[in-house]
Amino acid sequence: MSSTMLESSPSPLSDRSAVVVGATAEVVAAHAEQITARFYPRMFAEHPELLRVFNQGNQATGEQSRALAASVVAYAVQLIDPAAPSFAHVMTRIAYKHMSLGIRPEQYTIVGHHLLAAVGEVLGDAITPEIADAWNEVYWLFATQLIAEEARMYQLANVDPTRPVRPYRVIRRIEETQDVISLILEPADDGELPKISPGQYVSVFVDLPDGQRQPRQYTVSSTGLGNRLQITVRRVRGVGGAPDGRVSTHLHDRIAVGDVLEVSAPAGDFVLQPTDGPLLLASAGAGITTVLPIVEHIARTQPDRTVIVAHADRTAQDHALRDTVLHVGRQLDDFTAYTWYETVDPDDHRSTAGLMDLTEIPLPADLQVFTCGPLPFMRHIRSTPLVRGVPANRIRYEVFGPDLWAAEVSQEGAGNTKT
Ligand SMILES: Cc1cc2nc3c(=O)[nH]c(=O)nc-3n(C[C@H](O)[C@H](O)[C@H](O)COP(=O)(O)OP(=O)(O)OC[C@H]3O[C@@H](n4cnc5c(N)ncnc54)[C@H](O)[C@@H]3O)c2cc1C
Ligand code: HEM
Repeated sequence: MSSTMLESSPSPLSDRSAVVVGATAEVVAAHAEQITARFYPRMFAEHPELLRVFNQGNQATGEQSRALAASVVAYAVQLIDPAAPSFAHVMTRIAYKHMSLGIRPEQYTIVGHHLLAAVGEVLGDAITPEIADAWNEVYWLFATQLIAEEARMYQLANVDPTRPVRPYRVIRRIEETQDVISLILEPADDGELPKISPGQYVSVFVDLPDGQRQPRQYTVSSTGLGNRLQITVRRVRGVGGAPDGRVSTHLHDRIAVGDVLEVSAPAGDFVLQPTDGPLLLASAGAGITTVLPIVEHIARTQPDRTVIVAHADRTAQDHALRDTVLHVGRQLDDFTAYTWYETVDPDDHRSTAGLMDLTEIPLPADLQVFTCGPLPFMRHIRSTPLVRGVPANRIRYEVFGPDLWAAEVSQEGAGNTKT
């Protein structure tokens, strides 16, 4: 890196550390997953109470390790490279996730201690005190920005981070499909429902039969129910010897009307901006949960706005919330729905067999795209509007797990990037 870049950089990183980080970023990036793979076990060994706040499914698959590693490296790179894409969207996503889980400032000391110790373990003698100091500075810059953003979010949501959840009673349970249920929840503490922007999620904490406590995120799939909210949960089945999903299975098999769930304040920035213009909502599988609240919101507030919904699923019988979305869509002046199924019923002449293909549908000018589904689906879907001239900053996405895509798409100035 040139010294001119450093001089002109408004980076909060000290010049001395910037030089060291510039010289070592590549080697840290190359070992980042090894580092985070060591970090979590050593942190959980010393702080077993944190097992109740971290998603153990994401630990088992390694996804959280990869997301943490990618975020720290991307953060360091944008500190030392003024030309690096904006990091704001990654910061906001992490802060919202933390907020929904009740992460507190003092826990950053624990994470920082174990993360830097794991760097030392993996890189060994290569870590001089100077290098350790420089990465310590990077960590605390990242941490202080997150702590500040989270403090702002807690304040806006009127949430005490030591008590991040409220009790909600299950008022109704709807069997949507063979594998999908909706739960309609009402605050059980006599309080009001918080303000929820369509597209936001809540973290739901459950006490599992083996005594473990685990949180998972669920999109608020309907916000048009007065003092109630709805979540819609797809049962996750283990594939190739992997275990069935713990929390989704628990909610399906054990939760009934009258039960109480612990639910966080709404979080997430996969929400509509206050603009007009046509909207394409492209979803697959459980991603449909983001579509219904957005269509409901547009029906309430902008019924003359053009909305196209495109959904892919295994079969029509697996397509949850389909009738509800179509019903609400009929309240719009200009609403079109497309469906793709892996297997199409013989008497269904409206759906297309196979994977979603947006080259087949007319895309109006000034389109905004919101997409939600598994990562391979979103990679595939995003490429067509891009080729057809939709700017990257008008395409937003939501990942139903740790966001392993953020650093990659931000290179192209994705819609999730706020510049
Ligand atoms: C912002 C956001 C919004 C979301 N919204 C929704 C929504 O509206 N509806 C919805 O249904 N879901 C939603 N999700 C997903 C949801 O949070 C859960 O991830 C999902 O329900 C699975 O949780 P689980 O506990 O059932 O599975 P987990 O137990 O977490 O398992 C997840 C996967 O890991 C595999 N796995 C677990 N342990 C191992 C192991 N030891 N070895 C190998 N593989 C393993 C499992 O087989 C499974 O495939 C959302 C997620 C996010 C982040
Ligand atoms: C600078 C410090 C930190 C960084 C860079 C960081 C980064 C991240 C990232 C990238 C994610 C995934 C977000 C997503 O895409 O969903 C995440 C989630 C999470 N973080 Fe942090 N984090 C930090 C500090 C902390 C602290 C102090 C705690 C508290 C112990 C914590 C607890 C969690 C938990 C519980 C999750 C959700 C994990 C999951 O769902 O698998 N983090 N963090």
